Amino acid sequence: MNVIVVPDYEQMSLHAAETVAAEIRARTRTVLGLPTGNTPKGMYRELVRMHQAGELDFSGVVTFNIDEYWGLSPEHPMSFAYYMRTHLVERVNIPAGQANWPVASGDQAAACRDYEERITAAGGLDLVVLGIGGNGHIGFNEPGTSFDTRTHVVRLAEETRLANCRGYGFRDLDDVPEFAISMGIATIMGARKVLLLASGREKAAAVAGAVQGPVTEELPASILQRHPDVTLIVDEQAAFALSPREA
Ligand code: GLP
Repeated sequence: MNVIVVPDYEQMSLHAAETVAAEIRARTRTVLGLPTGNTPKGMYRELVRMHQAGELDFSGVVTFNIDEYWGLSPEHPMSFAYYMRTHLVERVNIPAGQANWPVASGDQAAACRDYEERITAAGGLDLVVLGIGGNGHIGFNEPGTSFDTRTHVVRLAEETRLANCRGYGFRDLDDVPEFAISMGIATIMGARKVLLLASGREKAAAVAGAVQGPVTEELPASILQRHPDVTLIVDEQAAFALSPREA
């Protein structure tokens, strides 16, 4: 694992955007798996700035959101589809039809199959960008998720619903969906390259476990130790619990 420690959130965001931009510039068509949440907001801001400055062309970019709340329509302001449109897709020149998010209603098995098929039809993921939950989840793959999972519907951990309620502006816990659809661990591990971002002290234990702990389904991000091309960009707060060798 390539662990890059930067001073603060701003530097993490700039570095992450540069990494994504380099992937986009490296080929005519790039398939990205993209996260939502608070962590990547600065990265999206910088990618939009690059585009507006004429430095980055998204016409060959295909995106797949990592996850979505089950039951929220893409028009719902708390949906991750809405997030991705407002933070990135509508601000750059990604052609209509090249931005993907999972179907999050109706037949669950069909929705999961459909998402895997769309990813495969796109040629697989060139780069997946990930945040990390305080409990070590990636996407919505909660502790205990089998490493073999592909896109699946999950029941959200209580701590995740609480964190999302506080962090994303839900009015109260009852408004946070109980289920979500998420790329599975095997879907994520199938990407050619993985970039994980973390900022803040509340992520420090999860980051240390992911980098230096045993590879265990109890800490889903630890599986990344087995991926051949992983970079972590973490700020000093999130690197707090790493041993000096990594930090
Ligand atoms: C959320 C999301 C993840 C995200 C993670 C961290 O629950 N489902 O995809 O990466 O938890 O979120 P944040 O960046 O807001 O801390």
